[in-house]
Amino acid sequence: MSNKEAWGSRVGLILAMAGNAVGLGNFLRFPVQAVQNGGGAFIIPYLVSFLLMGIPLLWVEWAMGRFGGRYGDHSTPFILDNMTKKKLWKYFGVFGIFTNIGVMAYYTYIESWTLTYTIRSLKGDFLGMDLASVGQVFDKYVDISGGVNFPVLALGAFVITLVINIYILSKGLSGGIEKVAKIAMPILILFGAFLAIMAITMGSTGRCVDCDSHIGLNFLWEPDYSSLKNPMVWLAAAGQIFFTLSVGMGTIQCYSSYVKQKDDIALNAMSAGWMNGFVEIVLGASVVIPIAVGYLGLDWVKENAGFDMAFKTMPYLFDQWGSVLAIIAGVAWFGLLFFAGITSSLAMGTPWMGFVQDEFNWSRKKASWTLGVILFVLALPTIFFYEYGVFEEYDYWTGTVSLVVFALAEVILFAWVFGMDKGWNEITHASDMNVPKIYRPIIKYVTPVFILIIFLASLVKPEGGDWAAAFAGNWKLDKGSIIGNIMHIGVDSSWTTSGKLTKTFFIDMSRLLLLATFAALALMVGHAAKLRNLRKKENDK
Ligand code: ALA
Repeated sequence: MSNKEAWGSRVGLILAMAGNAVGLGNFLRFPVQAVQNGGGAFIIPYLVSFLLMGIPLLWVEWAMGRFGGRYGDHSTPFILDNMTKKKLWKYFGVFGIFTNIGVMAYYTYIESWTLTYTIRSLKGDFLGMDLASVGQVFDKYVDISGGVNFPVLALGAFVITLVINIYILSKGLSGGIEKVAKIAMPILILFGAFLAIMAITMGSTGRCVDCDSHIGLNFLWEPDYSSLKNPMVWLAAAGQIFFTLSVGMGTIQCYSSYVKQKDDIALNAMSAGWMNGFVEIVLGASVVIPIAVGYLGLDWVKENAGFDMAFKTMPYLFDQWGSVLAIIAGVAWFGLLFFAGITSSLAMGTPWMGFVQDEFNWSRKKASWTLGVILFVLALPTIFFYEYGVFEEYDYWTGTVSLVVFALAEVILFAWVFGMDKGWNEITHASDMNVPKIYRPIIKYVTPVFILIIFLASLVKPEGGDWAAAFAGNWKLDKGSIIGNIMHIGVDSSWTTSGKLTKTFFIDMSRLLLLATFAALALMVGHAAKLRNLRKKENDK
């Protein structure tokens, strides 16, 4: 085995794990999800999902990781394989590499936008621009404004960002990732706190009747109990918990597999998980939405909320604070996003690294640069065919559906196949905290049922989310349900129209590409299993 990676310190490990969780999801995805799901209406389902699904999965994944590390396994196929005698489980573990590669491809692309925008803010490029012009800068950058379809700048920035990621990965856990997390995380929190204070102290700007940052904050914070009855809000809240905590991905198991057997995982898991919660609920909720409401009003924000809002409006909004503050706030905002992004994308690179180092004895250098090439190829369609929805397609399959499928599989394996007695021992072994006993039945019953309901509800979501009508017998599938998506319900499924390729063509091609990636990884896992058997036979001789 050529894999000699290890964490340098406990602080480094916790910061790296928190960095894995704290990402673009906290600052871009969370506020938008909250607005689109009724603001305060979102908070309670979100917190319940955190307690009944997020926390249990954190413990399960940390425990699985440290357990795998005991046998020298650092990626989910063989971590799962070691927990059971059944050979098929390792193929579920393929998700723990596939998801990361798929997400990392488009995630690094967004990360590269934040790098470009940090530099542009520093140069003062946005000073004096009106809202429409700031929006056009973005459209031109990702090349969705028509004309020649070759986003040169975006492609260049992406390659630079990818090379930075790969270079850091090639330096290893303690020499690369841990060092970056120790610098990036404190700066990120500092920048976030600065922007949150600016937003909270901003108050009314007088630009419109409800142009007041406090109205934005109230909208997000005031709980609305009526949403408890709305399954769509639950689906969105659970989806956000998955994405923000990076559970169901495979990164936590990988990071945790490098923890020493005598070291705690229960308290570490909570430290990283709650730090993510703080950054999301306190800092993530206090920047984009309140500042945008302060200048543009709540109705505008409700109508225009989308993750590109961070790029299309924030430079304009900061400019309202005067040029010096505009530059400082711009650098703080996009710099924060860059640091949040890179500490997550680095984590997504590690399952692949662990896998090929463990199984094929690849060097760190070979493992990381090969990953770079794979990511480059996978990301190209999201860059060139952005306007055809390829980017969203990657996010849907790898960043949403895969997480739920894998989380369901692993929690069943952990609680029912590996067994809750052994499982609970793994969680509490060397623990620096008292793990509440109530979590034993929660992990065994509540979490799997919760995830199963989320999965089934996403699979067969009825049209318009009208569950009452569906249960009354009129079950028409929504085009956003998983089946609806696969079958292209409600959209033209032909690949060409009047001699031109359709959006469906690009969507289907990206699905094929993702499927081929999964299949290739599964073949590699099968081959690795054969090599393991051969090695075992050699040793037994
Ligand atoms: N957990 C990471 C994020 O929130 C992926 O962006």
